Amino acid sequence: MQTKVNIVPSKKLQDMPTYIFAELDEWKDEARKQGVNLIDLGMGNPDGATPQPIVDAAIESIQKPQNHGYPCFKGKKQFREAIAEFLKEKFHIDINPENEIQTLLGAKEGLAHLAMAYTNPGDINIVPDPYYPVHSRGTWISSADVYHLPLKLENDFLPDLNAIPEEVAKKAKIFFVNYPNNPTAAVATREFYEELVDYCIKYNILLCSDLAYSEICFDGYKPLSIFEISRAKEVAIEFHTFSKTYNMAGWRIGYAVGNKEFIRTLCAMKTNIDYGTCSIMQDAGIVAIKEGKPYVKQIVNNYQQRRDFMIEGLNKLSWNLDKTRATMYLWIPVPGDYDSKAFCKMVLDKTGVVLTPGIAFGKYSDKYFRLSLVAPDEKLKEALERFEKAGIRYYK
Ligand SMILES: Cc1ncc(COP(=O)(O)O)c(C=O)c1O
Repeated sequence: MQTKVNIVPSKKLQDMPTYIFAELDEWKDEARKQGVNLIDLGMGNPDGATPQPIVDAAIESIQKPQNHGYPCFKGKKQFREAIAEFLKEKFHIDINPENEIQTLLGAKEGLAHLAMAYTNPGDINIVPDPYYPVHSRGTWISSADVYHLPLKLENDFLPDLNAIPEEVAKKAKIFFVNYPNNPTAAVATREFYEELVDYCIKYNILLCSDLAYSEICFDGYKPLSIFEISRAKEVAIEFHTFSKTYNMAGWRIGYAVGNKEFIRTLCAMKTNIDYGTCSIMQDAGIVAIKEGKPYVKQIVNNYQQRRDFMIEGLNKLSWNLDKTRATMYLWIPVPGDYDSKAFCKMVLDKTGVVLTPGIAFGKYSDKYFRLSLVAPDEKLKEALERFEKAGIRYYK
């Protein structure tokens, strides 16, 4: 008799909730097969090109044989020094390039590995909901539990620390926060960060701040780094990325900064899994930091104009949205009795516009959907026209 092979994935992978973006891809494939002309406002994938000087730096760098071998785990010294200078200028904070910076293959990788580096099976990590998926998934990969703390409109989408049960606080290992926030576009106040740092010190919790949208800010709004708060370095680590700032999502480069023990531990975790960030990307990253400013200004202006255009258009369809201060997202309530998936599927079927259901960002977020401002003006205009024609509008 022939032996039947049945090799099953690990339980932790099987137990992981489906990644809604994978399901969205299936919806999109299906629609394309039916010949639908999609307007994809689903993923937060910047639609612009990487600025030319950064591309040129990568081309120059790839010609150098010394960049063809394994990179240094921590990242190149010149790259870390450029990062420290940038952070000093932007946030007036002192980060030691020697031992307080870890280069990453994008922030997502670092966030997952941080969770794996600090979480034991059965531990609890605190993650506000809605959340960028890896904030929870890194914990689940570590066979630990997530305590989801709802972010509410009436609280400006900031967590209510008093709502966390004492036993959760005492057990918690990592507290993930992300401001400016994906998907709500909310921003943090200094008072909230002060309260959060005190809280994490009191309960001995690693504070993980994800600052992926530090540059995508509008109307002069300046976001905070957690390290502008006194004593933050005792408990915090902060993640940055080039993906959004310089239209470099496909290049896979980011970094973590903060408490040197956390940086060392993150690096130790990574040495078991990857070989660090490609030297070519790091050389390009140095040029991005040093010469990127005017290009970033242009990128941000584009998003700001798109924000204005889309909010005005959606408000004409009865949505009543306030202007956002950061990120390339609009976080929008679903009309009537729809749940977020049913609404987004209906919109896709009727209009060909791809939106992300709120449920992708957590169980408390099913009455919202996210619209990403990642298409040129004419596409956004067309999306609004399609909504109007199909009767897509807000109602209670
Ligand atoms: C909040 C947040 N953090 C991190 C990332 C991922 O960044 P990277 O491309 O550097 O992995 C994203 C991407 O959308 C994000 O929204």
